Amino acid sequence: MSSTSMLIDGVPLVIRPIRADDSAALRAMHRGFTERTIYQRFLGLHPDLSPTEADYFTHVDGVGRFALVAEDPAGALVAVARYDRLPPDWRSAEVAFVVADAYQHHGLGTALVSMLREHAREAGVQCFVADVLTTNLAMQHAFNDAGLCASSTRDHGVAHLEMPIL
Ligand SMILES: CC(C)(COP(=O)(O)OP(=O)(O)OC[C@H]1O[C@@H](n2cnc3c(N)ncnc32)[C@H](O)[C@@H]1OP(=O)(O)O)[C@@H](O)C(=O)NCCC(=O)NCCS
Repeated sequence: MSSTSMLIDGVPLVIRPIRADDSAALRAMHRGFTERTIYQRFLGLHPDLSPTEADYFTHVDGVGRFALVAEDPAGALVAVARYDRLPPDWRSAEVAFVVADAYQHHGLGTALVSMLREHAREAGVQCFVADVLTTNLAMQHAFNDAGLCASSTRDHGVAHLEMPIL
């Protein structure tokens, strides 16, 4: 997938596949997150992204693992959308999304769900799965707004969502 542009709250953002040299920018973005955003993304405390974690997140093969980033005009990353395909048949993929606090609630999350779904579908993924806090209405609305229908099971405040993407 090539890059595309998008205007969010008056700021032109470039949406493009993540690159191996995004590690430092990914860690910088993470340092700017509020505790709430980190908790919603990682379902726990995760104040720092280690260099090893950042390398793992930025080194993807584009088929089994893929991620999109949104980059602002200064070159800072402001959002990530990713999927990791799951064994045994690799037809389902676990997805995760995070938008920097200053850019939340402007439609970026919903747009990233749609773009990730298009790439995943072309790569042969049939279903997205995600673990989301039951209180995280923004993520659940973003899935719905992007046209995904979720069946869910709930356990201790976490909803396990399964969403066909065909
Ligand atoms: C969840 C997240 C990715 C959504 O991205 P976003 O850019 O903020 O979402 P959008 O602006 O596209 O909004 C999506 C929908 O959620 C709604 N919404 C946004 N913030 C909301 C909030 N705090 N409470 C309820 N609904 C909210 C929007 O109104 C929209 O719904 P609508 O079209 O029915 O009005 C983003 O908020 C985020 O990064 N949160 C922290 C990390 C996280 O929760 N990750 C999910 C775990 S995988």
